[in-house]
Amino acid sequence: MEFSQLVKDRYSVRKFSNQPVAESTVQAILELARVAPTAVNKQPQRILVLRTAKDMEKLKECTPYTFDAPMALAVCCNHDEAWVRPYDSYNSGVIDAAIIGTHIMLAAHDLGLGSTWVGHFDPAVFRKAYNLPANIEPVALFPIGYPAPDAKPAHLHAKRRPQDETTVYDSF
Ligand SMILES: Cc1cc2nc3c(=O)[nH]c(=O)nc-3n(C[C@H](O)[C@H](O)[C@H](O)COP(=O)(O)O)c2cc1C
Repeated sequence: MEFSQLVKDRYSVRKFSNQPVAESTVQAILELARVAPTAVNKQPQRILVLRTAKDMEKLKECTPYTFDAPMALAVCCNHDEAWVRPYDSYNSGVIDAAIIGTHIMLAAHDLGLGSTWVGHFDPAVFRKAYNLPANIEPVALFPIGYPAPDAKPAHLHAKRRPQDETTVYDSF
């Protein structure tokens, strides 16, 4: 799909069909995530692949927003590996993970799947459920699957501010 059409077509899919996602398709998404840029190319992302029924059951304890998807990817960052800005010690791990997440959403859509970025989850419960070490921060969850035939964008999808409300020229 042409890029401009891809980004305009994508929407948060919150209703999925029962069609399973083939392993080759998961690998295709992971490959498109792998090539994302990260600060100083440190690649601190850690992507937890949740594919079994047990994994998905556990995910329901972490968030109300699994949408009964057949699978999910959880994008985490390893803060020990991420670039740290020398001026203020800002750790870039979450930004890097956000770029990976964006690739995942667009890759999924390009492959005919749907996903939603889920930030509303309990990180403590998530950590415990999937044995995250202390240096790994869960950043975003992506329930993924084939959209149900009647899946459609939620009302917020169409609500984008006009460009002149979010763009500042020359100076604040
Ligand atoms: C950082 C972030 C966190 C989000 N968390 C959730 C969430 O927890 N649950 C949910 O249903 N949607 C979540 N969303 C999806 C947004 O609500 C959605 O992207 C936005 O309303 C625009 O709609 P669209 O993706 O269909 O264009 C999140 C999106 C982002 C970028």
